Amino acid sequence: MAISQTNLAWATLLEIGATEPGRRGRRLHDRLARALRTAIRDGRLAEGAAVPPSRALAEELGCSRWVVTEAYGQLIAEGYLAARTGSATRVAWSPDPDTAPPRPARPVPAPPPIRYDLAPGLPDLRAFPRRRWADAVRAVTGSAVHYDLGLPDPAGHPGLRTTVAQYLRRSRGADAHAAAVSVCAGVTDGLVRTCRALRAEGIADLAVEHPGWGRLRDAATSVGLRLHPVPVDHDGLSVDALARTPARAVVVGAAHQFPTGTVLSPARRARLVRWAREVDGYVIEDDYDAEFRYDHHPVAVMQGMDPSRVFLLGSVSKTLSPALGLGWLVAPAAMNPALRAANPVAAAPPVLDQLALATFIDRGWYDAHLRAARRRFRARRDLLVRTLGAQLPEARVAGTAAGLHILLHLPDGTDTPGAVRTAAAAGLRVADLDDYRVQDAADRALVLGYGNISDTEIPTAVALLREALAARTPGV
Ligand SMILES: Cc1ncc(COP(=O)(O)O)c(C=O)c1O
Repeated sequence: MAISQTNLAWATLLEIGATEPGRRGRRLHDRLARALRTAIRDGRLAEGAAVPPSRALAEELGCSRWVVTEAYGQLIAEGYLAARTGSATRVAWSPDPDTAPPRPARPVPAPPPIRYDLAPGLPDLRAFPRRRWADAVRAVTGSAVHYDLGLPDPAGHPGLRTTVAQYLRRSRGADAHAAAVSVCAGVTDGLVRTCRALRAEGIADLAVEHPGWGRLRDAATSVGLRLHPVPVDHDGLSVDALARTPARAVVVGAAHQFPTGTVLSPARRARLVRWAREVDGYVIEDDYDAEFRYDHHPVAVMQGMDPSRVFLLGSVSKTLSPALGLGWLVAPAAMNPALRAANPVAAAPPVLDQLALATFIDRGWYDAHLRAARRRFRARRDLLVRTLGAQLPEARVAGTAAGLHILLHLPDGTDTPGAVRTAAAAGLRVADLDDYRVQDAADRALVLGYGNISDTEIPTAVALLREALAARTPGV
């Protein structure tokens, strides 16, 4: 309810007590102007209401009259108050009732606390290399030249582009040079930029893997592309099914498909590149977690097979942390002008962060971190698979060769959404394979991520999962 001059205690309304913590530095007339502005903006002081004469308000607030006239003068200049000679100063503005933020009637209920996280998506956040990352940030803050602190290159800092190109050549078998690398905020951002460039080149239909990660679908539709889901089998994306769609571009997790965990077979890789040539189109390779392959060496990226037909997207979201917002996009040389032109206002992440990543990689800390992470994740995957085998023999584990998640195929008839809810109520987070589908399928499975759970939590997490499934599986 709006208040008028007659029924309010101004000192309470304006909350500008002299000892209010954190506000000591601000001058009193600024604080008064701010408090009045807030009361007008949120409708507590209604349009037309008179504010007290400056002398009266000064007395009530225990300040000098000058403070009040300064504050009123400021708000008159901003249009929130209007003064007319011979009459009271009045409120001259009201918030738009349609856009004013509604006051929540009651607090939003907090979700049940998650004590065990077996949902896919995150790396081991406890193992973020804080000390070395801080060393890298400190080093570049001291060593960045003045020029680095000027207007950033939208394609990314040349230092990081060179480092990423070397890293991708050395450890992912990519055919990458600094000129073809753009630094971006991650795979999702890289895909948005790529899709814009494809549209500008007349490609409006994009194929995506089914099942697949919803954010990649959202990224493509957000720039107006039409999506064509293509099934994935045990050899990865079905190129035959792809060829039956009108798409001329496809997003593929060749080294480790999400969420099925399949690796695109060598024959399919070759066919996929041939398909791109035949339709004069492109493959967009999502290389999101391929650094983690446990039983063999990591599979090299497809991009190396034909850099003129394959875009390569990667990020540090699965290796360091998604909170860094750092990734890369390697584009076919002929597409670079379209990429720049179609993304005129796209900006690279903050330059000091880019330089910190370059230093982190150049000093060998990224490789050391990946080696340690690979060892830790292999041991954790083995523990999870063993524990699932012992506690849930009726379920079948798949997709274990790489990455940070596995699939758990469940007996027919399992109520997976119900099991996910029951588990959440008990403090365990897991994901239903159906969450990554856009078409119905008969099989039932969970996607279990082991990046962000500690080894010691796994036995309890699996025991909770067994209870949730027992409550939701017929005949168990
Ligand atoms: C299939 C897939 N691609 C890419 C990513 C990484 O995306 P970004 O680099 O935008 O964080 C993820 C993260 O969960 C993913 O699941």
